[in-house]
Amino acid sequence: MINHQLADGILKILLNRPEKKNAFTNSMYRELTQILSDGDQNPEVKVMLISGAGNAFSAGNDIADFMQSPITHEDAPPINLLKVLAGLTKPLIAAVDGVAVGIGATLLFHCDLVYAQKDVRFIFPFVSLGLVPEGAVSLLLPRLVGHQKASEILLFGEPISADEAQQIGFVNKVITEPSALPYAEQRAQKLTALSSGSISRTKSLLKDGALKTAVLNQIDIEGKLFIDRLHGPAAKEALTSFLEKRAPNFEGLD
Ligand code: COA
Repeated sequence: MINHQLADGILKILLNRPEKKNAFTNSMYRELTQILSDGDQNPEVKVMLISGAGNAFSAGNDIADFMQSPITHEDAPPINLLKVLAGLTKPLIAAVDGVAVGIGATLLFHCDLVYAQKDVRFIFPFVSLGLVPEGAVSLLLPRLVGHQKASEILLFGEPISADEAQQIGFVNKVITEPSALPYAEQRAQKLTALSSGSISRTKSLLKDGALKTAVLNQIDIEGKLFIDRLHGPAAKEALTSFLEKRAPNFEGLD
């Protein structure tokens, strides 16, 4: 469900489960983690580019998977994926169309360049699902927008438009064409013409050191809380209500 193809120094990665808006199953997390790690090691890869099939980037974690095989502390494919993303040494570009929800939105904080089609909606629905944020977004978002704006986004989980995401600073450019992919491809090509040594050292200057340590630490802290919440009653109610296509009722649930 994840395609990848290397040509002219660009590793193109496609989340390819359009019938479920590219929602991640546990096996998709493992697949993507492996593709990114291999790409980061492969000397033929200069840039990685991720997009989603069928006018969606990703609807986040598969909700049925959350119910049937909830992650545990010992085996947490999403957390492994986020740590690999946070540690990549080569540039990762995202072309975002449609929706980017949950981990489909938080993983963008670990991309170096993000291009979004103008109608994209970014959604951080963690609290409305009885969960907590992940992907170090509770550290990286307030760093970008301040505490109050981050609270607004993370507590209410309301959709953010491509324009707003650009104003906030986690989208580089809003694309008015039907898809952000062609523009992202052009940017990837432009990077392949530059010196890989300068690119990787610049990325390292931007991301390594105390920030990376703090990001990895926050991914762990959030991950533990996330898993605890996932096994609790509020998340059960929220996830069941999504599958039953009804509004959740959190009354009496912590
Ligand atoms: N897990 C499992 N299935 C999902 C899914 C998810 N995260 N997101 C979407 N789908 C499924 C829908 O159930 C639907 O399946 P069906 O056709 O068998 O009924 C299909 O994908 C299309 O989604 P739909 O809701 O009809 O599309 P939409 O454009 O109206 O809305 C979303 C798109 C992403 C806003 C909406 O599907 C949604 O809110 N999904 C849940 C996102 C979420 O909470 N993710 C978890 C984050 S931790």
